[in-house]
Amino acid sequence: MDGRKLIFLACILISTLHVAAIKKSYIVYLGNHAHGSDATIEDYERATNSHYNLLGSYLGSEERARDAIFYSYTKHINGFAARLEEKEAEEIAKHPDVVSVFPNKIYKLHTTRSWSFVDIDNNMPKESGPISSLGRNVIVATLDTGVWPESKSFSDEGMGPVPSKWRGYCQNNTREGVPCNRKLIGAMYFNKGINDLSPDQNRTNSARDEEGHGSHTLSTAAGSFVPGASYFGYANGTARGGSPGAHIAAYKVCWAEGCSDADILAGFDAALHDNVDIISVSLGGASAFIGGTEFLDDSIALGSLHAVSRGVAVVCSAGNAGPDANSVTNVAPWIVTVGASTIDRDFPSSLKLGNKQIIKASSMESKSLPQNKMYPLINSSDAAAPGLNVTLAKICNTSSLDPEKVKGKIVVCMRDMEVARLVKGMTVKDAGGAGMILVNNEYWGDVLYADPHVLPATMISYNDSFALFSYMNSTKKPLANISPQQTRIGTEQAPMMAAFSSRGPSFVTPEILKPDVTAPGVNILAAFSELVSTTGVPEDTRRSPYAFLSGTSMSCPHVSGVAGLLKSENPDWNPSVIKSAIMTTARTKDNKNMPMRDLSTGKEATPFAYGNGHIRPTRAADPGLVYDTTVEDYLKFLCTLGFNSTYLSSFTNKPFTCPSETMKLEDLNYPSISVGALNKTIVVTRRLTNVGPPGTYKVRVEAPPRVHVAVIPRVLTFTKVGQEKTYRVAMMSRIKEEREQGFKFGRLMWSDGKHRVRSAIAVNVVA
Ligand SMILES: *[C@@H]1O[C@H](CO)[C@@H](O)[C@H](O)[C@H]1NC(C)=O
Ligand SMILES: *[C@@H]1O[C@H](CO)[C@@H](O)[C@H](O)[C@H]1NC(C)=O
Ligand SMILES: *[C@@H]1O[C@H](CO)[C@@H](O)[C@H](O)[C@H]1NC(C)=O
Ligand SMILES: *[C@@H]1O[C@H](CO)[C@@H](O)[C@H](O)[C@H]1NC(C)=O
Ligand SMILES: *[C@@H]1O[C@H](CO)[C@@H](O)[C@H](O)[C@H]1NC(C)=O
Ligand SMILES: *[C@@H]1O[C@H](CO)[C@@H](O)[C@H](O)[C@H]1NC(C)=O
Ligand SMILES: *[C@@H]1O[C@H](CO)[C@@H](O)[C@H](O)[C@H]1NC(C)=O
Ligand SMILES: *[C@@H]1O[C@H](CO)[C@@H](O)[C@H](O)[C@H]1NC(C)=O
Ligand SMILES: *[C@@H]1O[C@H](CO)[C@@H](O)[C@H](O)[C@H]1NC(C)=O
Ligand SMILES: *[C@@H]1O[C@H](CO)[C@@H](O)[C@H](O)[C@H]1NC(C)=O
Repeated sequence: MDGRKLIFLACILISTLHVAAIKKSYIVYLGNHAHGSDATIEDYERATNSHYNLLGSYLGSEERARDAIFYSYTKHINGFAARLEEKEAEEIAKHPDVVSVFPNKIYKLHTTRSWSFVDIDNNMPKESGPISSLGRNVIVATLDTGVWPESKSFSDEGMGPVPSKWRGYCQNNTREGVPCNRKLIGAMYFNKGINDLSPDQNRTNSARDEEGHGSHTLSTAAGSFVPGASYFGYANGTARGGSPGAHIAAYKVCWAEGCSDADILAGFDAALHDNVDIISVSLGGASAFIGGTEFLDDSIALGSLHAVSRGVAVVCSAGNAGPDANSVTNVAPWIVTVGASTIDRDFPSSLKLGNKQIIKASSMESKSLPQNKMYPLINSSDAAAPGLNVTLAKICNTSSLDPEKVKGKIVVCMRDMEVARLVKGMTVKDAGGAGMILVNNEYWGDVLYADPHVLPATMISYNDSFALFSYMNSTKKPLANISPQQTRIGTEQAPMMAAFSSRGPSFVTPEILKPDVTAPGVNILAAFSELVSTTGVPEDTRRSPYAFLSGTSMSCPHVSGVAGLLKSENPDWNPSVIKSAIMTTARTKDNKNMPMRDLSTGKEATPFAYGNGHIRPTRAADPGLVYDTTVEDYLKFLCTLGFNSTYLSSFTNKPFTCPSETMKLEDLNYPSISVGALNKTIVVTRRLTNVGPPGTYKVRVEAPPRVHVAVIPRVLTFTKVGQEKTYRVAMMSRIKEEREQGFKFGRLMWSDGKHRVRSAIAVNVVA
């Protein structure tokens, strides 16, 4: 480095110091409270005073501390959120009681939000099958954008009384706020954290959903039965959540700009205090920033550790950053991390040409053209508005078409990356067109979308465009009509992994396979807010009580709903038992009995996309054996990661010290197996607990390619419920050459003939 560069660097350093005097919001995390669940108001006040006291000792006075602190977490999570200078934050982090100090960051909702803005795969989905219990007496909570209380999905018809353990309430329990009932029993909002990061917004002080996302996820997890729910007439059927009999509570921590650490922790603290059973979290940060100090600066990882140590299961979305490797978020082992896959619903239509040719197409328009006549066809590039560049007309950009040329015709528009598909339809409609044919571009090929267009419209593949254009070239007066068909269910190959679904391995701990499972997350119909357009296109003034959304945000609450069912049937199951039941009964084949495919490659998907596989709720109710990961198991895992054992011991009632011999991360009693780096050999230990009838289980192994796997013992006999047995898996690399390195996948299954307890195996072989 030459001298000039050094001087330049020094200047940057000086200006950084200068900037450091600016106050920003931080979370000061102190671990657990000394008081238990039966704490009193005085205990909470004592906790807040201790926060003023601690911070005051750094800022010079308690008065200053009171000004700086905007959240004091007093119920279960111990800590506070405050506006501090960077140097102050650094100093406070050295205090012996402080576990971590981290900047208040923004997390994003894991929805693609508008399928007309974001290009995602559009193939099928349906709800998780019927299952005996409906989630009675269970309380399912979401940390999300709130709730649209008027939705039929949140009606309390047929609901039993509010569980006596409930300690929450509805803030703004008025008609203008969020009126609650026996179904929707809790609604609170938290916006001090986002107000600090994004201050110039006009936020309503209410948990009412102004985005749609929160109503969608809440109704998917535990919405009531609603017959006749549809999206402008499409996908007409009964809407229901995974746990339709469960009570629900909405903790609004997300706003138009995202969700902040400070609000997320406040939401967790309130939900735990209120005694919810399941927390569904369809949001996350970029995996990159969680990389830093691992779980200690991640409010979702920390909040969910508090939850799981109190018996509350937490289900999170894996993220929509796929198909790149390492893109999975929410990777803490105590979280259920959910990827997204398709369902077998299809919106077919056909395009009839004047020469009697029929082209397969896809559409979802609510109004169709009269079928007894044919309409003139025109290419949009031949219909540019006077004086306008034809490149704008080609992609049917707003106001680019000449009404004189377009009136009463079906207009052919080209797909592109700039103009939303829905907007193209609006352009044609505004110009007086009768309908639209959207031609796919070469890049997306035959990936067709059924969009909720504002006029009769359909989409055809790139390949089929040649047939359309050669017909148009062949005649002076080309004609066509579009005929939508019934929504079809069961026709498509499903599930397939959505390309957007985030992939493993975990950036933080590759020794834990993530995601854990996959669930429906493409074109999911669920409740929506009637304040906003369902398509996310501002010009779209239509409102619908139900809407299609895609993302791991949508797959996560499917699993939360199943977790609610399992909790309702087995109140004594802890979060890891629920998680194990869901994971070990998941399936890796599709509805055609073929290995599940990946839409991003067209090839077989891997456990880095689906974990143990696609959820099967009915099987999950009867898993036979489970991997019961105790809170102490998680703490030992955190010991290995270097967490302070004084902090860790606050999570148990019993005394806890880190074991003198550190546990291998691979040995966490997890329902799948992942080896971070296998040079020669490794032995991994697992412990199974019987939750079914007595039985003799035999193991079957599909070893990863070029890896030798031995399981000891190969037979486990269980004579009673609750009995535990341990087994070991020895793995030996047979790889000699460097080019054979990398992650390999296999599987392991214990079966008594009736139950099948499956685990995915991922091994990173290094030569
Ligand atoms: C853990 O934190 C406590 C204070 O809470 C401190 O006394 C102890 O030295 C710390 N231990 C380690 C290993 O850092
Ligand atoms: C803030 O929102 C309220 C309610 O939507 C509205 O009446 C008011 O005009 C808004 N104020 C600003 C400054 O945007
Ligand atoms: C909701 O209640 C809070 C107090 O809990 C109040 O500050 C706020 O203004 C209320 N919001 C609305 C929209 O009524
Ligand atoms: C949905 O289906 C039900 C009966 O299956 C029918 O009564 C209702 O009219 C349909 N709704 C729409 C919007 O098509
Ligand atoms: C139309 O726009 C394209 C791209 O913006 C440009 O390359 C082209 O020269 C324009 N044509 C005319 C006739 O202005
Ligand atoms: C579409 O038109 C808008 C103005 O109406 C313009 O801002 C935008 O750049 C156009 N998009 C493309 C891709 O030409
Ligand atoms: C493309 O279309 C031609 C006929 O137009 C057909 O023969 C061919 O199979 C199609 N290719 C694909 C990949 O669909
Ligand atoms: C219609 O316009 C598109 C885009 O400009 C062009 O690729 C296609 O060849 C045109 N088709 C006909 C029949 O003119
Ligand atoms: C149709 O004609 C246009 C313009 O003459 C030409 O660019 C295009 O290649 C033709 N398309 C087909 C499929 O024949
Ligand atoms: C195994 O591989 C890891 C990671 O490459 C390396 O750190 C370690 O030294 C290797 N151990 C042996 C015994 O080769």
